Amino acid sequence: IRCQSTSTNEPKTRRNILDNASNLLTNLLSGGGLGSMPKAEGAVSDLFGRPLFFSLYDWFLEHGSVYKLAFGPKAFVVVSDPIVARHILRENAFSYDKGILADILEPIMGKGLIPADLDTWKQRRRVIVPGFHALYLEAMVKTFTDCSETTILKFEKLLEAEHSSGGNAIELDLEAEFSSLALDIIGLSVFNYDFGSVTKESPVIKAVYGTLFEAEHRSTFYIPYWKFPLAKWIVPRQRKFQNDLKVINDCLDGLIRNAKDTRQETDIEKLQQRDYLNLKDASLLRFLVDMRGADVDDCQLRDDLMTMLIAGHETTAAVLTWAVFFLAQNPSKIRKAQAEIDSVLGQERPSFESLKKLEYIRLIVTEALRLYPQPPLLIRRALKPDVLPGGYNGDKDGYPIPAGTDIFLSVYNLHRSPYFWDRPHEFEPERFLEQRMDLGIEGWSGFDPTRSPGALYPNEIISDYAFLPFGGGPRKCVGDQFAVMESTVGLAMLLQKFDVELKGSPESVELVTGATIHTKNGLWCKLKKRSNIH
Ligand code: HEM
Repeated sequence: IRCQSTSTNEPKTRRNILDNASNLLTNLLSGGGLGSMPKAEGAVSDLFGRPLFFSLYDWFLEHGSVYKLAFGPKAFVVVSDPIVARHILRENAFSYDKGILADILEPIMGKGLIPADLDTWKQRRRVIVPGFHALYLEAMVKTFTDCSETTILKFEKLLEAEHSSGGNAIELDLEAEFSSLALDIIGLSVFNYDFGSVTKESPVIKAVYGTLFEAEHRSTFYIPYWKFPLAKWIVPRQRKFQNDLKVINDCLDGLIRNAKDTRQETDIEKLQQRDYLNLKDASLLRFLVDMRGADVDDCQLRDDLMTMLIAGHETTAAVLTWAVFFLAQNPSKIRKAQAEIDSVLGQERPSFESLKKLEYIRLIVTEALRLYPQPPLLIRRALKPDVLPGGYNGDKDGYPIPAGTDIFLSVYNLHRSPYFWDRPHEFEPERFLEQRMDLGIEGWSGFDPTRSPGALYPNEIISDYAFLPFGGGPRKCVGDQFAVMESTVGLAMLLQKFDVELKGSPESVELVTGATIHTKNGLWCKLKKRSNIH
């Protein structure tokens, strides 16, 4: 009782001792906690030979949907089960934090939502979520279409030049193009900054890519050597990283200062009335500064913007990349998508209203997210002892886990689980309309927009955590609808004008993975003017 009654450090320490004792007891009673769990033995080559999530899939088929992965003295629990995922992400969400992921991202994102500790997270999430209001999203559709149009015009120009020299196709690394497109969109919509990266290079753009590159390096590097006191001065890539970070921080600080200095009552009124369409700057930064007052903490704002920049950029670029990768191998699906675009849009740009009718394009985006989820693993660390529930696949008793346990929740395994998906490795956007899966829990009934009105895409709720394209529970992605709309616009505007083929074989497109799954050497494609306009 005394433990609960005050908030001094001493009772907290006692609570920890009690927690640890109860943890020990649970372990002893269960025959060693993790000790009773099936065990996969990782070799160092598993970390370097190929993306780790491939090995995690093989072990999932071999050891079941909850297993322990041991690398020497270090052990991770790998979860590939919807009931256990729902427990960790939703039902017992506050017993977990981001663990290793926070260690990696904190130097970059500070106290931004992704790595934030629970107290900061609660406060910031409440402030940020209203920023993604439906009317903000509606206003952003124009940003999506403007930026996509710049990309399309660039391709058209290149193609014209090719036609005049007798060719009929251009060869492009579409992954790089999508990356520029997504960067321009996130810059404008989050802090009203025009990177203009589709058409030019700049020191800020280089610094953003440098920082993303480092974030990725850190997420695949298992010894956090950058934490050693002198590393940021001695190791050249760490010195470069510090420089890149400074360039971006200076840019963000300037934008924050500007937003605070130009705070105007008329804008605030428009924001209060959600009159986004008549605001010159409808960015999230404007919202955060105007609605929260000019005294909002600069450092926290910068962390929020940086988090949004990174979280919203690479993920969307990756979804577009893999959607095109799969489509290019399925010309009949390209034609089906183009038929939908022709009937919904004709030659017009998408609008907030017409976007809703591009159902097949949205399902292509969703299917790309099923096959290559971004990120492929969600990472958690248990803050206190917990008992994972018995999973769908046989482990009815569940497992106790001690405080401090690191968990990889493999979204890749869930999305390709042979227990829930017919032909799990095939690209079939139609499956979301056709497939009826019986999970034996609340049950999956396919994607039926009339059953879940307002749902833009098949999600974790209707699949009961078998499908987690944007995570789930309180720490679910705040930009899910933004991202689905943005990808749908980008893909629709590309296919409206062009036919796409891969330049080489699908097998020649090698995968690498950090926070997201991307290609090793780019997604090289041939683009031709469309031959079949309906
Ligand atoms: C969180 C995926 C786009 C901002 C997440 C999570 C996933 C995800 C799976 C949950 C992570 C976890 O539980 O550990 C994606 C994908 C995207 C996308 C696949 C694109 C297709 C965006 C965009 C933004 C954004 C466009 C912002 C403009 C965030 C933030 C969080 C988050 C701030 C942390 C939420 C929190 O902890 O409260 N995202 N995301 N994401 N995402 Fe996204």
